Formats: sequence, C-alpha cells, structure tokens
Amino acid sequence: MSAKVVVVGSLNMDLVTRASRLPRGGETLIGQSFATVCGGKGANQAVAAARLGAQVSMVGCVGTDAYGQVLRQALLDEGIDCRAVSAVEGTSGVALIVVDDNSQNAIVIVAGANGALTPAVLGCFDAALQEADVIICQLEIPDATVGHALKRGRELGKTVILNPAPASRPLPQEWYASIDYLIPNESEAAALSGLPVDSLQTAQIAATRLIDMGAGKVIITLGAQGSLFADGKGFEHFPAPSVKALDTTAAGDTFVGGFAAALVAGMSEAQAIRFGQVAAALSVTRAGAQPSIPTLADVQAFKTP
Ligand code: RIB
Repeated sequence: MSAKVVVVGSLNMDLVTRASRLPRGGETLIGQSFATVCGGKGANQAVAAARLGAQVSMVGCVGTDAYGQVLRQALLDEGIDCRAVSAVEGTSGVALIVVDDNSQNAIVIVAGANGALTPAVLGCFDAALQEADVIICQLEIPDATVGHALKRGRELGKTVILNPAPASRPLPQEWYASIDYLIPNESEAAALSGLPVDSLQTAQIAATRLIDMGAGKVIITLGAQGSLFADGKGFEHFPAPSVKALDTTAAGDTFVGGFAAALVAGMSEAQAIRFGQVAAALSVTRAGAQPSIPTLADVQAFKTP
C-alpha cells in the first residue's frame, strides 16, 4: 500500500463575499460578489495532500444538512477516503469570509458538526490512524480530540503534524511531546510562544521557544516572506515564490497539505518546504479555499515569474 496522509479535522462550507475592504465594527458595506465554497482547514489540507499526490483519508464530522452532503462529496471527488467522515444531526461547520481588494481576508467560523468530533468518535476510527504514515491536525475541532490524535499518533510511531490554526492562546503543554512538525503562521507562533513575531529574527526566537517547549521541528509560515524552519540545531529561511495574490484563503492549508504529501513521497524536509511553498503560492493566485488548491502537475509546471 502506498504512503498515506490522514487528516483529523474540520469541514466547513465557506460563505465568501468580496468587498473593496473589510468592514469596520457596526458598518455595512456593499459587496461585489458572493459564493459558497467548500473549505475548512482540515478538509482543505486533505484536498491539498490528495491533489498533490498523496493517498489521503479524512476523519471528521459533517451535519445532516445539505452542506454536509456537498462537503463530503467534494472530498470523495478528490479520491479521499471518507469512511471516517460521519454525518451527525444538525448543521455543518460554516465560515463567514470577507476578502478585500488587497487579497486579505477576515473569517468567522461556527463549528457546527465539527464540534461533534469527540475523542470517542475518533476512537471509533482508530484503524484510520493505524494506517497513516503522516497524521495532520488543526484546531477547528475540540481540543480534547486534537490532544487524543496527537498522543495516539505518537504512540503508533507516526509522523505527527500540528497546524495550530486558528490559535489565540498557548497550547496544552503535554501536546508538544507528540508533535514532529509544528506549523504555525506568524500570529499563531506569537500566540503559542508568548513572543512577538514580526520579522525573521523574532520568528527565530519564537521557534526556539516552541522547540524548548517540546515541539520536534517548527516551520513558521511568513506569508510573502516565505517560511522559517527550525530544528533545535539551526534555522533555514525559505523565501516564497513571488506571485500576484488574489485571495490568500487556504494558502496555509495548501502549504501544510503539500508539505505532508511531499514528505510521504520521500522528499527531504527542505524539498518538502519548497514544494509546499510553490503550491501555496499558486493557491493565492486563485479565489476560494478548495477551488484554489493546485494539482501536482500545476506545481511541477510552475516557473517563477
Ligand atoms: O484556512 C482557510 C479556512 O479557514 C477556510 O476554508 C475556512 O473554512 C476556515 O476554516
């Protein structure tokens, strides 16, 4: 059997509006467009890993509403194993997203069915974790479930990736010992480390703190500045390919899924980071979450403009 990426995480229907700028508190803006787009950090990472060449299984929950069927079918259409995607009574997760003319976004998520992915439900799908080579988690499902998945991944000897998104506070200390690759963005690295992260130098200091807390290796994604890799022995900065951004939604997810797909394909860490960065760069040139994620052929054909 070929190497496998298992994603334990969220599926959301993204309700996306475009407006010239993000609204201020109490303000009503006239938007330019509206679309419903399949998203959710977990599902996006699963789609990225699948489009970029990996065999993928998803563990998650959708609602019994119409969105739930669409979200599940979208993953099936990518060839993702959805035997561990449960339909639970109620509404699916949703994300309200505004994207402005500078390609920046603001997102509010409502967990819905994602909140039903409890440790007990995950326990029913332990076979999926056992079959994994790489397990990826994010933070749009209950913390207790993330903790369980990380711990179980470590017990089973799998490569464990945590993308701590969204994060606004430190992680439970006991999680760190189970994490092989911690992949936060700048604001998440700041929230986790308690240190400001606004430059390469401050990212190095925060990454060192996160490794001291117990993470195996840390990759801080820095948007247009690329990413910083730290393994406790040193640092490496990977500049980002330069592209014209249209919509940054799911860029981080594309990086994480692409990095995992590259690792299971046998690439080195440095190659996997560069591969993930090209995939993420391509994703920001397109609108939406899952529709923006490139294929392996897209990444292989990419040439720096
Ligand atoms: O990372 C992008 C994702 O964040 C969106 O697809 C949205 O669903 C939110 O979860």
